Amino acid sequence: MKRLKIKEVLTGEKTGEVVLVKGWVRTKRGSKNVNFIALNDGSTINNLQIVVDVEKFGEELLKDINTSTSLAVTGQLVESQGTGQKVELNATDIVIYGKSDPDKYPIQPKKHSLEFLRDNAHLRFRTATFSAVFRVRHAMAFAIHKYFNDKGFYYLNTPIITASDAEGAGQMFRVSTLDAKNPPLKEDGSIDYSQDFFGRSTNLTVSGQLEGELGATALGEIYTFGPTFRAENSNTTRHLAEFWMIEPEMAFYELGDNMDLAEEFLKYLIRYALDNCMDDLKFLSKRLQDEEKDKPQDQRSMELIEKLNFVDNNDFVRCTYTKAIDILKNSKPYKAGKFQFPVDWGVDLQSEHERYLVEKHFKKPVILIDYPKDIKAFYMKQNPDGKTVAAMDVLFPQIGEIIGGSEREADLQKLETRMKEMHVPAKEMWWYLDTRRFGTVPHSGFGLGFERFILFVTGMGNIRDVIAFPRTPKNAEF
Ligand code: 4AD
Ligand code: MG
Repeated sequence: MKRLKIKEVLTGEKTGEVVLVKGWVRTKRGSKNVNFIALNDGSTINNLQIVVDVEKFGEELLKDINTSTSLAVTGQLVESQGTGQKVELNATDIVIYGKSDPDKYPIQPKKHSLEFLRDNAHLRFRTATFSAVFRVRHAMAFAIHKYFNDKGFYYLNTPIITASDAEGAGQMFRVSTLDAKNPPLKEDGSIDYSQDFFGRSTNLTVSGQLEGELGATALGEIYTFGPTFRAENSNTTRHLAEFWMIEPEMAFYELGDNMDLAEEFLKYLIRYALDNCMDDLKFLSKRLQDEEKDKPQDQRSMELIEKLNFVDNNDFVRCTYTKAIDILKNSKPYKAGKFQFPVDWGVDLQSEHERYLVEKHFKKPVILIDYPKDIKAFYMKQNPDGKTVAAMDVLFPQIGEIIGGSEREADLQKLETRMKEMHVPAKEMWWYLDTRRFGTVPHSGFGLGFERFILFVTGMGNIRDVIAFPRTPKNAEF
């Protein structure tokens, strides 16, 4: 008999038929005569109720069925007698694939803290919360490819190992095959990377953008979607050392077009989640409400599905950095000395400032543009004022910065001057500068932090809980 996924069985279309299902036991309860097993196979947040006649199968077999035991069950699908499910399965045959010792299995059928589950990340997929998160994450990855494919963008795979620092922030992980204990040295005592695997010093990429620009200035519109790495020692709920980024890059786009694309893209993804992941979102919404039930009303977040609809239905605010500084300087928390970090024209905004703008002032997602050039990367288009660049950051409630991007400097001379000022090695980047030498065009792009976006869609609070195996300072377990 062909095995059916539980998601399909639960639609009720096969009621009356004999079916075969396979999965893991979530819970088992019951009386002397009848046991109820909640079986889950990952295809949906919902479990299938298996009804087991104790006399028919015997205590012996049932003793071996515990949380996380893996089973194949054949039986007749009938309308459920109880509430809570449309159908249930009257078992006629049960095969145990693998037992699970209830005294040793770490994930008990009770509420565990997210911290505990992080320490057991190898098994946390088996909880309702994490299975929901990873189904939503999958749906969003699929929607990203669909969105760009339908718009005529090409998926470009940029290298993971690179010799350049795209963001110029120096937060890179070195890739080397040299003997760490005894590396070859040059006469001046420095390490001789010419003897390294690639004949030079190389790192894990912090962004695929520079190579993305090479693609966009020939293919027109491309996007990357891959892992990126940053050795920043930020132990926050928003930072990972290894995270996934989506980086579209478009020829002939100016900053306004770039903002329009970012807004349309984010709304498309949110709408896709609402249209395709409702069972999981409802569960995640309830989870969030349970978690926040002890908080005072004014500190609770907006209900998850309401929040997603709200973002989809409202225009993002567009505002310059200079105006944002004015708003912050006139804000209550600033005047009351409540901000931890300083606010002055020229400083990089911190998450507390971004969240004030989004959550308290505008009460909508915000696209901030025209940042001071000294706090942004060398490749951004220089504005005529000589002080700012055509940067754009998209700020979201609860998250802060979710997208960073810009129009790119298309003028060779201006770009070379800026690289010199910022000590970016222009000579090694000859290939990048060639795009400006041979048929340069206005172009733009941005990077969406995939995990930050998944935080937003799932309502989870810690970025470690939306990537399967988080990499953070002092942590690379699993
Ligand atoms: O603002 P960032 O650094 O921009 C770039 O890397 C550009 N090259 C993108 C482009 O224009 N093509 O990073 C982009 C986004 C951020 O807005 C944030 O969402 C996410 O990547 N991000 C991180 N996510 C998790 N952990 C980290 N350590 C992150 N650093 C950045
Ligand atoms: Mg940024």
